[in-house]
Amino acid sequence: MPRTDIAAAYDARAEEYINLLGSVEQMAQVDRATILGWRDSVAGRILDAGCGPGHWTEVLCDGGRRDVVALDASPAFLASARGRFARPGFVVGDLSALPFATGSMGGVLAWFSVIHTDPVDLEAQLREIARLLAPGGSLLLGFFDGAPRTPFDHAVTTAYYWSAEALGDLLAPLGLSVEHEESRQDPGVRRYGHLIARASRTNPSLERDEPIIRRQVP
Ligand SMILES: C[S@@+](CC[C@H](N)C(=O)[O-])C[C@H]1O[C@@H](n2cnc3c(N)ncnc32)[C@H](O)[C@@H]1O
Repeated sequence: MPRTDIAAAYDARAEEYINLLGSVEQMAQVDRATILGWRDSVAGRILDAGCGPGHWTEVLCDGGRRDVVALDASPAFLASARGRFARPGFVVGDLSALPFATGSMGGVLAWFSVIHTDPVDLEAQLREIARLLAPGGSLLLGFFDGAPRTPFDHAVTTAYYWSAEALGDLLAPLGLSVEHEESRQDPGVRRYGHLIARASRTNPSLERDEPIIRRQVP
């Protein structure tokens, strides 16, 4: 599904989503622990890729002690995030063309943000995320765990199940190796999964003959 259609679908339900799922207090304790622990394991700048209402961005910021940028397709989410969290660094954009420099991030959080990406397009999107990671940088990716590439009717718009193994197969050629994976079944909801993958010491994007600074946002 094109990014503009995803944005329109989230914009249409942004208020409802924010009321239900837009604050960290509404999130599962186990997810808070996962994201906090990951944040504290990451050195350098962090991108919240597909930040939605921005509540995880606020967690990543650690009271202003961390350098964090956030990007999402939905202008309504970002308007809310800017208002509620009063921080700069919320950028409207596309996960497939990230406006940040190659190798500029110590970590990228993609928390349930690639779930709507057509499976045939996911490798390219992950390549773009991998491009941003500094050597040794870390990706934390949340997903709905199930038969890889199978679509389902997500409340906002079509989404796809993945598994850590199938995602790992896409990430490996991009220089990212999965070093941790978890999944869990909470009552009455789809199975959640997440993985943490580390960029090799040599980022393949940095080795290519391409400009280091590309569409950079300060
Ligand atoms: C399920 S929400 C998750 C939001 C947030 N990470 C959270 O955990 O609440 C998926 C988010 O990914 C964003 N998204 C999906 N595809 C995108 C794309 N191609 N470019 C930018 N944002 C995208 C949507 O706009 C939406 O905010």
